[in-house]
Amino acid sequence: MRDRFLPYALPSIGEAEIAEVVDSLRSGWVTTGPKVKQFEREFADYTGARHAIALNSCTAALHTSLAALDVGPGDEVIVPTLTFCATANVVVQLGAKPVIVDVGGDFQISPEAVRRAITSKTKAIVPVHYAGQACDLEEILLLAGSHGISVVEDAAHAAGAEYAGKKIGLHGRAVCFSFYATKNMTTGEGGMIATNDDALAHRIQTLSLHGMSRGAWSRYTETGSWFYDVVEPGFKYNMSDIQAAIGIHQLRRLDGFIRRRREIAAMYSEAFSDLPEILLPEQVPNRTHTFHLYPIRVRAIQRAIFIDELRARNIGASVHFIPLHRHKFYRERYGYRPVQFPICEELYQGLLSLPLYPAMTDCDVSDVTDAVRDIVTGRRRSAAKSMPAFQSL
Ligand SMILES: Cc1ncc(COP(=O)(O)O)c(C=O)c1O
Repeated sequence: MRDRFLPYALPSIGEAEIAEVVDSLRSGWVTTGPKVKQFEREFADYTGARHAIALNSCTAALHTSLAALDVGPGDEVIVPTLTFCATANVVVQLGAKPVIVDVGGDFQISPEAVRRAITSKTKAIVPVHYAGQACDLEEILLLAGSHGISVVEDAAHAAGAEYAGKKIGLHGRAVCFSFYATKNMTTGEGGMIATNDDALAHRIQTLSLHGMSRGAWSRYTETGSWFYDVVEPGFKYNMSDIQAAIGIHQLRRLDGFIRRRREIAAMYSEAFSDLPEILLPEQVPNRTHTFHLYPIRVRAIQRAIFIDELRARNIGASVHFIPLHRHKFYRERYGYRPVQFPICEELYQGLLSLPLYPAMTDCDVSDVTDAVRDIVTGRRRSAAKSMPAFQSL
């Protein structure tokens, strides 16, 4: 057994990130400034989008994107139930109604469920690229297009992912990424909005900093002007240069991170292929999976027991996610019930995420696969022991 605990996620921060942060600290410019501008330019180049606007989280990115599309009271926004609460909470914050729909067997928002949920009040659809694999974007974009609805992608898991050969960031009206500590790349906390829409980019930029007509960088520098105007009441969601300093180097390493994530996922899938108790994540053709998560479903063993047994072997795990419709607020405010989400309910049984991040060594991976095999075979043995007693009844 391992002698040290293996967490389910860890960032890979290198010397280049550390040196760049120190450079920002020594420069005297620590808030939004030249490094944020550089990070935005390089992220836009990476995805191919015309604009990239850096914010201090993906939650802020989702909130600002929907606000910039004028989502408000009386509007409905369609979201999948298998997601983090941020996807729906921001809709509530704007005074609109989150219309929660079921997912398909691929864990992704179901286009059929979306089609059934569209009403004259639907203002936006927020599909999530669950676990780092794109959802069925073509169907969602077609549905949205035919009803004049905007698509704001929750790409929190999907920095570097591709759909039909193109990077995520190029498809929806606004695409929101997360750079939280566990994500494909990190800035500690942070987010980014990619968009090809010039007017929307301008409004997002303004809303992200109090609705002011100019940010600090254009006020406090040698050539800046003191004057600004508040054109609407915005948020305080700007990214700092300290965060961007980390992001610039993480972005350069992103493709390498994803290669390693995919390698580890392949090792897991190979190691568990002969265990009927473990259902593996599927890869859909034409959608490059970044394996932000490696979600499995365990059968014949209770999830809570399985996670405890992993922990007893010094292996961490997590659950992504407790579906939105199961949370108190969404149950009580909107009356959502499990029977409305039969596919998610089925997937949620035994759902858990194994550790997966680029800093894991092959030895760490073997520790996880050994632990999983040990738990499963142990269970089989104890089930077999109780069988004769059963048969003699
Ligand atoms: C699907 C999804 N959406 C949104 C978020 C929010 O991201 P952030 O923590 O950057 O606000 C997360 C974070 O875990 C997430 O998993």
